[in-house]
Amino acid sequence: MNLDASSPDLGYQSGFGNEFSSEALPGALPVGQNSPQKAPYGLYAELFSGTAFTMVRSEARRTWMYRIQPSANHPAFVKLERQLAGGPLGPVTPNRLRWNPLPIPAEATDFIDGLVGMVANSGAEKPSGISIYHYRANTSMQRVFFNADGELLLVPEQGRLRICTELGRLDLEPLEIAVIPRGLKFRVELLDPQARGYVAENHGAPLRLPDLGPIGSNGLANPRDFLTPVAYYEDTRQSTPLVQKFLGELWGCELDHSPLNVVAWHGNNVPYKYDLRRFNTIGTVSFDHPDPSIFTVLTSPTSVPGLANLDFVIFPPRWMVAENTFRPPWFHRNLMNEFMGLIQGSYDAKAEGFLPGGASLHSCMSAHGPDGETCTKAIAAELQPSKIDNTMAFMFETSQVLRPSRFALECPQLQSNYDACWASLPVTFTPNRR
Ligand SMILES: [Fe+2]
Repeated sequence: MNLDASSPDLGYQSGFGNEFSSEALPGALPVGQNSPQKAPYGLYAELFSGTAFTMVRSEARRTWMYRIQPSANHPAFVKLERQLAGGPLGPVTPNRLRWNPLPIPAEATDFIDGLVGMVANSGAEKPSGISIYHYRANTSMQRVFFNADGELLLVPEQGRLRICTELGRLDLEPLEIAVIPRGLKFRVELLDPQARGYVAENHGAPLRLPDLGPIGSNGLANPRDFLTPVAYYEDTRQSTPLVQKFLGELWGCELDHSPLNVVAWHGNNVPYKYDLRRFNTIGTVSFDHPDPSIFTVLTSPTSVPGLANLDFVIFPPRWMVAENTFRPPWFHRNLMNEFMGLIQGSYDAKAEGFLPGGASLHSCMSAHGPDGETCTKAIAAELQPSKIDNTMAFMFETSQVLRPSRFALECPQLQSNYDACWASLPVTFTPNRR
């Protein structure tokens, strides 16, 4: 648990959805079977399933771990006094909401204490839906955590993290994202004095790459750019708090060893990271622009084809070349619900008010689009090829309406005048001049 600013390359395996394998000691992986009578080095075999046993093969996720002690070796969990910040969901609102960035607390705060629930559209006991959090931290975790309620998608905005998981370590920095499978144990260490970012908790089907349709066999996020860790284990006998989130509540117990004690593993239920700067951005080379689904990095599908439980969509630097086109995101009202965040720079639909670390919520059928200033400029612009640079906005888009937490509705960061950014749109209609 060290503050290591040098961040040596931890070694990764590349690909998405592969049957990965890794061993921290030579020959630690059994050959030809998963659970031999005696596993190499006296390790215990343990199956870690992310989907039901009977899931179709193309969707099935599971990993075999070979570990110093099986996870079953733990005392009873006790509900923790300190629960997640954010509180219960607040009243329903159809209004467009926008928040300034939340401050990073002055007191010592680790990744778990610094999580604050912002919006959710499902109870954690349901097999679909998402919950969205901000995280703020200034201290490395001295405990290990797992989330029984869903997969976690981490989007750092400030500060580098080292995520030490049962399957190995991932170093993460702003403009990269990481996905931690439901139930995988991990510890978040800080590689900088403080860290802040966003978390989407996916209660539904695990995130995967979107289908590419007519785009073909390449493009958007390419599989080889996803990085999964290599095996790394801690053989310690020191007391380690283990915390889990179960149906939204935090429970803890004390282990007499590190649970990050997997010496070898193979499988496809794995954590991974992805550098958003590797995204192959596709747009128009004639006129208009495609729907923002063209920017989908990862998707969690529902049983309805094309209807996502969660789409993770980014708005990266890109050239704008469309002729005779209103180039900012158009005015729109959608079935889908959009929670947006900003990792760096500014977002091309908003002149001001949407800051890195901030967020906005546009719910089902709520009307939105560029603010007055952006719109007026875009209509008057002399169109030349131009590059939108120094920007990385993103969207967690979901098919069920998101309800803000009580905290999100009552915090001072909630902007009281968001609607005003559209109030300055002038009426330019002139019935006698086309
Ligand atoms: Fe939108």
